[in-house]
Amino acid sequence: MNLLDGKIVSQAVKDRLKTQTAERLLQGKKAPHLAAILIGNNGASETYVASKVKSCAEVGFTSTLIRLEESISEQDLLFKLTELNEDFDVDGILVQLPLPKHISEQKVIETILPSKDVDGFHPESVGRMVQGLPAFYPATPYGILLMLEHYKIETKGKHAVVIGRSNIVGRPISIMLNKNEYPGNCTVTVCHSHTHNLKGICLQADIIIAALGKPEFLKGDMVKEGAVIVDVGITRVPDASKKSGFAIKGDVDFNEVAPKSSYITPVPGGVGPMTIAALMMNTFKACAAKD
Ligand code: GUN
Repeated sequence: MNLLDGKIVSQAVKDRLKTQTAERLLQGKKAPHLAAILIGNNGASETYVASKVKSCAEVGFTSTLIRLEESISEQDLLFKLTELNEDFDVDGILVQLPLPKHISEQKVIETILPSKDVDGFHPESVGRMVQGLPAFYPATPYGILLMLEHYKIETKGKHAVVIGRSNIVGRPISIMLNKNEYPGNCTVTVCHSHTHNLKGICLQADIIIAALGKPEFLKGDMVKEGAVIVDVGITRVPDASKKSGFAIKGDVDFNEVAPKSSYITPVPGGVGPMTIAALMMNTFKACAAKD
């Protein structure tokens, strides 16, 4: 068993971006600028956005964190997004999800200019990705691809089983894994809550992407010897022994699955840091596209 270490790979990606950003500045070009909107006081969202802002500083990007009240109206939020769309200095915009119930996620996503859509959630970005055109890939699936690439994991002709079909991870990674170039060319099966014989399907998988949001769902008797396991889960479960009062659990029962796997991501320290590295890559590209 080998670890797919997201801390090491994300650091390598960020080191490259730091060098490229310094080169931009030497050439008299602007630093990439990410604007992040955080609404309300969701603890997990606070943590994720803080990591994104911190990573911007690490690689030399400018960042603007905009904190808005939970009670902000949809109209006011859309107005804020329009201002950021029109601000030439801002290269990438992200609105941390989930949103309060009174705000339409779809309207928010569609209001962000596709050229600044560093989350890759806009229908134009998704459509371009599906057609194999240059596009902003959603950060988590993109981070997974960067990690597979770093460890030179063979994907051609492999059977990849994706568990979960969310717009943020499951659906896009299923498309990206069967694109016609490395890392891709997999035969992909997408499983979800209505799938029959999930265990039998997982047992046929060379690569499993677990992205369903159920702590320790994937057990040792569901994976074949030598499979590559990517765990996207990051559920907070109460744990009195932790200072924070919670522990982070993945969708994979690591102790059972790791001994059978050839490669496996830990949680934390696997996919999470890669998501942020991929967001930084997208922000850099959004900026460079304006040169
Ligand atoms: N919430 C969970 N994952 C994400 C993500 O990748 N981007 C944003 N904006 N919100 C999220």
